[in-house]
Amino acid sequence: MAKNIGIDLGFGFVKATNGEKDYIFPSVVGAGQDLTYRSELTTYVEPIENLSVSVDGKKYFVGDLAIRQSEILSRSLGENHAQEKNTKVLLMTALAMFVQGESEEFNVVTGLPPSYYLAHKDALAEMVKGNHVITVNTDGTDRKKTIIVDKVKIIPQPLGTLFQKLFDAKGVLEDKESARNKIGIIDVGFRTTDFAVVDKLEYIDKLSYSTTTGMSNAYAIIAEHLRNTYRVYKENYELDEIIQKAQIKVAGKVHSLDQIKKEAYEQVAAKILTEMNSIWDQRDLDLIMLSGGGGQALAEFILPELVTASLVDNSQTANVHGYLKLAQKLFGATENKQKFGTSTETTAANVNPDSSQGSVADGKFAGNRFFNDNKNEKDAKEKRA
Ligand SMILES: Nc1ncnc2c1ncn2[C@@H]1O[C@H](COP(=O)(O)OP(=O)(O)OP(=O)(O)O)[C@@H](O)[C@H]1O
Ligand SMILES: [Mg+2]
Repeated sequence: MAKNIGIDLGFGFVKATNGEKDYIFPSVVGAGQDLTYRSELTTYVEPIENLSVSVDGKKYFVGDLAIRQSEILSRSLGENHAQEKNTKVLLMTALAMFVQGESEEFNVVTGLPPSYYLAHKDALAEMVKGNHVITVNTDGTDRKKTIIVDKVKIIPQPLGTLFQKLFDAKGVLEDKESARNKIGIIDVGFRTTDFAVVDKLEYIDKLSYSTTTGMSNAYAIIAEHLRNTYRVYKENYELDEIIQKAQIKVAGKVHSLDQIKKEAYEQVAAKILTEMNSIWDQRDLDLIMLSGGGGQALAEFILPELVTASLVDNSQTANVHGYLKLAQKLFGATENKQKFGTSTETTAANVNPDSSQGSVADGKFAGNRFFNDNKNEKDAKEKRA
């Protein structure tokens, strides 16, 4: 039976979950090489920090291994998400982490930034769907994995955060109060900030958009400071740890970066607030949810300016957990069917997203275009038939 998986393919980090295990790795892909000493030296490294894969006959290093070993110029995703080879490499690597034996079948929910959503969602769904054979090596041994993606749903990224709040683990609407409200979501990521508004569960296109402001802007400010002050040259993918610790070691001496980090974060937060105010009147919103890894980073600068806003729990993985809940709702709570099979309550497994069964709110969801464009799924079935 197909397993439900949520994948959040961010410009900074790939986040993936099956509900039991979360994986997170930098969205970095580099050329793979044969590393002579790898098998001896990497015994103590976590598999996720040691991802080497072959996709469509080419070898790649992914995530931390790429950062350590490949010649890379930048983080690896461009705006044109769906057409890119790196997108496929990152997606397949994430799925491969959940393949226990040689082969596994999946249903996938993933997202695109609101501004790229319409233009790229079909191409991305096509890329993900179908059978993929890849080779994964995290410990010196090549393992062939067959990934079969059955159903795919693509939604605007910040809605993951909303679904995480609204649904329980089985994909049943739990937070009925929020379902009646007008909610704004600000998802601050590595390279983009996504704004989305949902009014009584209806996605409001004209208030939902993406900007290219993100944590990478703060990284650039800090990188410049390192160049000017210490003559230290760092690419943004090398900065995560330095910025997190707010210190840098130069020739054995530790220097604090607290001050420049604060200034950089303040500047980015101010820019995001300006962007928000140019499109939203925050008085119209009952609630603002601050999400994304950048949401956590900038919360202390953004929240004091927004009366109704709060930071969501585990903000960096809020989207991906919402994607999984949506998968449970749309495709059935596959992993948990036996456990819930005898229950008489309305579970994700027996709510038809194309009908208005279930609660009134579920019916409203059913009318939402993110729940009923099953065209791709139908096309895929026809192709297979
Ligand atoms: N616990 C944390 N505390 C502070 N900052 C964090 C934390 N976790 C992540 N970050 C920051 O968030 C950034 C990444 O956020 P996130 O994973 O949401 O971006 P992304 O989804 O990959 O990017 P995008 O949404 O632009 O595609 C990191 O670069 C780091 O600056
Ligand atoms: Mg993101």
